[in-house]
Amino acid sequence: MAESFDGDWLALREPFDAAARDPGLAALLASRLPARPTLLDLGAGTGSLTRWLGHFVGRPQAWILTDADPALMARAFDETEQAALAIGWRATWPGKRTLLVHSPRGAWRIEGVLTDLREAPQGLPLAKVDAVVCSALCDLVSEGWVERIAAACAARRLPFYAALNVTGRERFAPPWPGDALVARGFGRDQRRDKGFSGKALGAEAPEAIGQAFAARGYQVLSAPSPWRIPRQAGAMAAELALGHAGAALRHEKREARRIDAWREARVAQAEAGRLSVTVGHRDVLCLPA
Ligand SMILES: C[S@@+](CC[C@H](N)C(=O)[O-])C[C@H]1O[C@@H](n2cnc3c(N)ncnc32)[C@H](O)[C@@H]1O
Repeated sequence: MAESFDGDWLALREPFDAAARDPGLAALLASRLPARPTLLDLGAGTGSLTRWLGHFVGRPQAWILTDADPALMARAFDETEQAALAIGWRATWPGKRTLLVHSPRGAWRIEGVLTDLREAPQGLPLAKVDAVVCSALCDLVSEGWVERIAAACAARRLPFYAALNVTGRERFAPPWPGDALVARGFGRDQRRDKGFSGKALGAEAPEAIGQAFAARGYQVLSAPSPWRIPRQAGAMAAELALGHAGAALRHEKREARRIDAWREARVAQAEAGRLSVTVGHRDVLCLPA
């Protein structure tokens, strides 16, 4: 079964994702695409990557969003329409499942495909697209999955862009008792099978993507894209503390009391505006030679 994600969590993190992704790699990808490109967004969730990367493409463009979760897909369309209206762009619906965002530099045509990506590239419309992109997905998948996607992209000479892959470097500040315990459990959880036929790549994702594409003659570029959560962003810091504690608990059951104490202390700090968090990520761009 696909790992499920909460739409409110994806909405909360969207501005931090946008601030973290490396603009240089996004601009380089955009410069390598044709005049009216079609991009395939894997595990699109609520559409955060499309709303961000579309501005770098900056010309008429089409998007195919894919996800297994129908509620997130519906929200992706709603939030993209709302985001367009909020910046003064029109949005229209030429078909039930097609949204047109009328940007001043050309329309963004957005469609969605509900699909389980476990079997990818099977079922993906690769013949119709000019690039395959994703954000916060590749640390969930297995090495075999990345190999299959790399082979499928290479067969069509498609660029592959994977933003926001965790690096395993997190820091909650100020330091607190239990930090190392929670970090150890969280790290183990990142390798838990997330339904992609094998151990999840976790912090190995940037390296695995790079190797899979370099082996097929691609130029591989990467850049750091850390979340930097300041003390003022208490809601995000509290969610991160809750997420880390919950993940650690799955693997460190005998330490439940210490992890609970850590969670309570960290959430109280976040609510009081006294907790800052850095979470390491890396963006990877693979370009066919
Ligand atoms: C961490 S979220 C990232 C969402 C979005 N790309 C973003 O950056 O906000 C991972 C996404 O992958 C989707 N996903 C996870 N496993 C999946 C699967 N087996 N098939 C399709 N989608 C999947 C989830 O529904 C979720 O939307």
